[in-house]
Amino acid sequence: MNSFFNNKVVVITGGSDGIGKALIELLIPLGANISTCGRNTQKLQNLKDAFSSQQLFVMEADISNQNNCTQFIQSTLSHYGKIDILINNAGISMRSLLIDCDLDVIKKVMDVNFFGAVYCTKIALPALLQSKGTIVGISSIAAYRGLPGRSGYSASKFALNGWLEAIKTELLHTGVHVMWVCPGFTKSNIRNVALNEKGDAQGESPLEENNLMTSKECAQHILQAISKKKRTLILSAQGKQTVWLNKLFPSLADTLTYKFFFKKNKLIK
Ligand SMILES: NC(=O)c1ccc[n+]([C@@H]2O[C@H](COP(=O)([O-])OP(=O)(O)OC[C@H]3O[C@@H](n4cnc5c(N)ncnc54)[C@H](OP(=O)(O)O)[C@@H]3O)[C@@H](O)[C@H]2O)c1
Repeated sequence: MNSFFNNKVVVITGGSDGIGKALIELLIPLGANISTCGRNTQKLQNLKDAFSSQQLFVMEADISNQNNCTQFIQSTLSHYGKIDILINNAGISMRSLLIDCDLDVIKKVMDVNFFGAVYCTKIALPALLQSKGTIVGISSIAAYRGLPGRSGYSASKFALNGWLEAIKTELLHTGVHVMWVCPGFTKSNIRNVALNEKGDAQGESPLEENNLMTSKECAQHILQAISKKKRTLILSAQGKQTVWLNKLFPSLADTLTYKFFFKKNKLIK
């Protein structure tokens, strides 16, 4: 893997926190040139300060906005002249039962997690065809097993996987590699900023994070899989069990998933 990323231009959406930031931390010493974006100016500034590297290009962009995606990808091309790898990483989650949820919450999650990836990939595709590059979607175990209280999130990740599988087939003989990664629970900021039923950040998450995979471990697995041109990557023992259980015994998976996410018939957020 060591030389694979050397001099490659890697675009990572949402690099100012969590898994995206961990990917940048690993890729810079490997000699990759990074372009990343996020919405929060201060977090982007912190990222620049942390690396102060010629290998890092940072831009404020909201990937749910098509024009922002165009500016971000075009600026990356103006800055580096090519794109070798696009990692569609930026994402948000939600915590609300459908009965309580403003529909805007589900739309917002779809706009970021699904359409953000569609916009960036479509705009970067000519450059990726030229470089015979790699398109990655950071998806989730929730793309294989619908999760209660996270229905919009699951929908966005099911959509992402289906869309990536379709374009992988379209691009089969072009030299462009397409893959999707499905992390299990990973330590990051995603649960704290998950949208509640009104679309506000939920703040503190009740999930005990101590035993979760770290963002760094997750990023290591992702880079290994990219360098080996894997088709998919499903992470964590619990994640793998969930995918198989759901495939073989979907009704049992309904019962067990309910037990995991509800205590005394109340959703755990
Ligand atoms: N952590 C987990 O347990 C887990 C499990 C499975 C899958 N995943 C997936 O992994 C990916 C990364 O999540 P994470 O856990 O690292 O989350 P995180 O710690 O919350 O980081 C998310 C990153 O995306 C950026 N972002 C969010 N919305 C954006 C938007 N509209 N436009 C541009 N940037 C945006 C955030 O910056 P700003 O807020 O400043 O925009 C931040 O840099 C997501 O796709 C998530 O669904 C995570």
